[in-house]
Amino acid sequence: MCGIIGVTGEADAIPLLLGALHQLEYRGYDSAGVAMVVDGSVWRARAAGGTNSVAALAELTAGAPTGHAAAIGHTRWATHGSPTAENAHPHLDCTGRLAIIHNGIIENHAVLRVELEAAGHTITSGTDTEVMVHLVEAEVAGGATLEEATRTMLRRVRGAFSIAVISADEPDTIVAARRSTPLVLGLHDGMALLASDIPALIEHTRQVYALADDELAVLTPGALRVVTLAGEPVEPQQLKITYDLQAAQRGGYEDFMSKEMHEQPQAVADTLLDRRGGHGELVLDEMRLRPGELRDIDKVFIVACGSSYHAAMVAKYAIEHWVKLPVEVDIASEFRYRDPVLNSRTLCVGVSQSGETLDTSEALREAKRLGAKVLTVTNVVDSSMARAADGVLYTRAGPEIGVASTKCHLAQIVALEVLGLYLAQLLGTQPPAAIDEILDAMEVLPSLVTEALGRAGDVDDVAAKLTDARDFFFLGRHVGYPVALEGALKLKEIAYLRAEGYPAGELKHGPIALIEPGAVVVGVATRNPLWEKMLSNIAEVRSRGATVVLLADDGDEESAAEADHVLWVPPTFPLISPVVDVVPMQQLAYRLARLHGHDPDRPRNLAKTVTVE
Ligand code: AGP
Repeated sequence: MCGIIGVTGEADAIPLLLGALHQLEYRGYDSAGVAMVVDGSVWRARAAGGTNSVAALAELTAGAPTGHAAAIGHTRWATHGSPTAENAHPHLDCTGRLAIIHNGIIENHAVLRVELEAAGHTITSGTDTEVMVHLVEAEVAGGATLEEATRTMLRRVRGAFSIAVISADEPDTIVAARRSTPLVLGLHDGMALLASDIPALIEHTRQVYALADDELAVLTPGALRVVTLAGEPVEPQQLKITYDLQAAQRGGYEDFMSKEMHEQPQAVADTLLDRRGGHGELVLDEMRLRPGELRDIDKVFIVACGSSYHAAMVAKYAIEHWVKLPVEVDIASEFRYRDPVLNSRTLCVGVSQSGETLDTSEALREAKRLGAKVLTVTNVVDSSMARAADGVLYTRAGPEIGVASTKCHLAQIVALEVLGLYLAQLLGTQPPAAIDEILDAMEVLPSLVTEALGRAGDVDDVAAKLTDARDFFFLGRHVGYPVALEGALKLKEIAYLRAEGYPAGELKHGPIALIEPGAVVVGVATRNPLWEKMLSNIAEVRSRGATVVLLADDGDEESAAEADHVLWVPPTFPLISPVVDVVPMQQLAYRLARLHGHDPDRPRNLAKTVTVE
């Protein structure tokens, strides 16, 4: 989730770039950089240092040259390559006359890197981005203009991107393009601008245009032209900006939680990107643990806290089913104090959005001490847990600001299930065709999540009927159980309502004593292997007077018949269904929090990253 800014036609570009990068800080970043054309060459400055990097960049650029030519700036949120100054954008080609900035992931970067190096290019960073500027270089060397070279380059790359490229040979021009990640354009008073999102532009202009997928924009002072990748002219769509800067930072949403819920399809898609090799097999680049080491594994532990723990619980069902290995899931704060039995044949996976949660990092330290192989699943590149582990699997949700984890939770489920399929492939416990079929279904998840998000109005209607309720029970079975736990946690965190999450089959062993008229039962009744038993459990609470809200697969009237209110979700394979089913749970908690007058971004007593025991 990098931030992008570009301008041409501004006499003093650096202050404008720095101001815009500052407006993009809310996205989170670990390094920053700028480049501009000055006196026939490209001038560049880059700084690493987490959230101090824009300030460090300001120091580096004090006294930088001025001029009307093209200038670009970037804040980086690392995905490929550590958050160092060498990996910070802009990246240059071999001649130093071209510079590029990029947000997104280039899936086929490894193949392109090999090809470029064989052709004599020197690639200096560990990023997926740099290959693009060398591809442009090759075209320019053959006589192409910057626009033509960029168009040709874009036909060679796979993945998600918004980019901006400048050239010392076309000093006033910026060429920009996008596929799947956002990019907006602006015009103002002899200038043309571009940015990854509106907050970076809003101070300068409200004449803002959207760029669509696979469109390319050519910006010159005071003018912009948009074409398709084939070079056909396109009329850019002007956007109506009715909100202020603060709202723009939240992408026009009321709060970060809503914004991040709406980023979930992208988070899921990005976490899946780049995982399938040339023959359809899974390739986990950052894994570091060698196949031989993993083939020896006879037991898996997954340790985590909160929502990450719930993602781990989903993974237990999937890994045990696909890999036929025993999987223990542990609350990290308990794990290290209970003499867990681990050895060199144990794989211990720590799951943490932040990669800094003390309970989880200490649990991993203990696992390592006991000789286990340690893998971290995290959203933050080079976080403490990523550095300490033997291997890493990154979720690629982009920075999560809301204290209530949403997009990272979905990305964690996806990453852990990819890990499960990878182990199944290595150990030969599933035929390749079965693995393929599941991966194909996972690739449809972003559109199913989009569909689920589009049904927020139905959730709002149900929430409006529950405003007086104070006691909530979230029930599920099989993978519906962790979904229920996540629904209960979200409701507690942001709506401050008492909510118990239970495996529905356990109800009769005690908690059913609490069910009486006035209690609300939210049940996950999508069709997993225990669906019928789940409906019997629901019948038990209904007959005791509870109000029943059921999550049901589209068109499943049998489930609907057991409910007072139904939240429909698009169906998918049971083991991956939590990625979709969690969405209405988040929405229900969100709407109830709002109805009770609470700000979901500022839950009381909670911190985003918990670095105490
Ligand atoms: C989720 O909504 C919570 N804020 C919390 O439970 C969180 O998942 C937990 O603290 C773990 O955080 P981590 O993923 O950064 O380790």
